[in-house]
Parts: sequence; structure tokens; C-alpha cells
Amino acid sequence: MAAGIEEIGIVIAPETGDEIRAAAGDGSAFGAQITYIEQPEPLGLAHAVLTAADFLGDSSFVMYLGDNMLRDGITALVDEFRRDEPDAMILLTEVPDPEHYGVAELDGQQVTRLVEKPSEPRTNLALVGVYMFTRSILDAARAIEPSPRGELEITDAIQRLVDGGLRVTPHLVSGWWKDTGQVQDLLDANRLILEEISGRTAGELIDSRVEGRVVIEAGAVLERSVVRGPAVIGAGARITDAFIGPYSAIGEGVQISRAEIEHSIILAGSSLRDLEGRVEASLIGRDVHISRGPATPRAHRFVVGDHAEIEIP
Ligand code: G1P
Repeated sequence: MAAGIEEIGIVIAPETGDEIRAAAGDGSAFGAQITYIEQPEPLGLAHAVLTAADFLGDSSFVMYLGDNMLRDGITALVDEFRRDEPDAMILLTEVPDPEHYGVAELDGQQVTRLVEKPSEPRTNLALVGVYMFTRSILDAARAIEPSPRGELEITDAIQRLVDGGLRVTPHLVSGWWKDTGQVQDLLDANRLILEEISGRTAGELIDSRVEGRVVIEAGAVLERSVVRGPAVIGAGARITDAFIGPYSAIGEGVQISRAEIEHSIILAGSSLRDLEGRVEASLIGRDVHISRGPATPRAHRFVVGDHAEIEIP
């Protein structure tokens, strides 16, 4: 929206599409117009572009991978793309582990070669998951074959543009960038975002102390607790006899009592009660309830959903 893009198509999977729809709605909350495009199977990013072909028509467009975060946004990049009118623009950043990304080779201001997750990368320039394309990418996506991982790779489609003599320009990203595909990455992204907040208090503090930069949203109530920033306490949260340490993001309506938390993300509607050790480097989903059970029998009792990880000392 900041870059002046108001028509947004979100490519969704059949399994998780409804959650995305619920979160982003029709876009009117952001002044955008959102269209949902269902990709029946995860057959790759170039396949996702083809799935969106009717929506895209002849327009130039930004493709933004939903798990990528860029500190400085994309306004300057979209302006540059509009000004220079290349056939495609890719974003690059130096990384210590290029083998996990698409990797670019350059000759001055010209992209010469792009390889998806090479075992022996020739540069440390990773493709950031934000791309600017003209309609030429659609033909390129139609022309490529699936990669060894069985996907139509956007990296291969862009290479096809390069091979066809089209102008693909690189842009080096200077602010931080995160591909939040792993838990550690989400915690890192959370930390980077909290690093830049300024504190404000709309909620209520009763016998509580706030140190450093802390955002306390409206309706949140802190009682006999300490919050050490940077941290965010969501609307309607209740923090009682608790310690919330640096780099914590506490969601809406979360209830924390007699527990200590730091460097963690706790999503809306969850509760943590009567915990002995400090909870740290944790990612806790929505409506998760963690508490101490009866003293005997001394046992762990879990009701845990898919893909969970639990560590007990
Ligand atoms: C995708 C792209 C890769 C790019 C990365 C950025 O990888 O294929 O070239 O570097 O996004 O997030 P994937 O997340 O699909 O493994």
C-alpha cells in the first residue's frame, strides 16, 4: 500500500487459505482490494505466478513471498522499477549460507546467472523473496521444467529472461531482511521489529513496573508484574504476578500469571499459569493453554497439535 499498490492478489493453498482470508479479509481495512487465488498444489513459485495469470493480465507486478520481511519496505524499489522499466528486478542480499537460497551472479549491474539452492554457491548473494516483474515472466514460467525438488522455480523463470536477452536488474537490500521459514527466523524477525518500537502505554498498570521501550495496548492490565522492553503487550492481555522480559510479543487477550517469559512470541488467546522455570525462545500459537497440573501423580499431560516441539528440562 505504501508503494502505491492497491490491487493485491494473495495466492493461497486449499488447506490454509481460510486462515489467510480471515486475517486479511477483502483488504478494505488497509484500503486495498484483495483477491484470493487458490493454487491447488504447491508446485512452485513460478507455478503460483501462472495460477495468478488471469488476475495479473498484462500488468507489471510485485511478487512478495508471504514469509519474507524487509525492514525498509519496498517503496523505494517499486519507484526504481517504475523509473527504470527493466523487464524484471530482483532483490539481493549477502548471506552467510547462500546454499539455502536462490543465488545470483552479477557482471556489474547485470544479472548473468541465477541458481536455486546450489550445493556450491559461486557468490553469497541470495535472492530475497520480493520480485518485480513485467508480463514477460508469464511466458518464461510456461517455458521452464520442474526442478529436482519437483517445483517450477521462479529462479529458473528469471534465468530464462536473462537467457532471452531481457533486462533483469539487481537491487542490493541494505536494511535487514528475514525469510521467516523457521522458528529461529521468526524469533529473529520479532527481535528486529521490537528493536525499533517506541514505548507507549494505553493499558492499565497496577503495582507494576515497565522498564525500557514497551507498548501496552488498550485494555491490557498488568498487576504486580514487571515488563522489561523491548516488548509488546497486546490489547486486553492480563499479566499478573509475572515477569515479561526483553524481546517478547504477547498477543491480544493473552493471560499470564505467576510465570516468567522472555524472547518469545505468544499469540492471541493463549494462557500461561504457575510455571516454575522461565519460558524463553518460544513460539506459542493461538489459544494454547499451559499450566501446572495437580501435584500427584507427578506427570506431564499434553494436548498438542501438529508440528509442535516441546522441551522439558
Ligand atoms: C524461495 C526461492 C528462493 C529465495 C527464497 C527467499 O525459496 O525459491 O530463491 O531465495 O524463497 O525467501 P523457498 O522459500 O521456496 O525455499
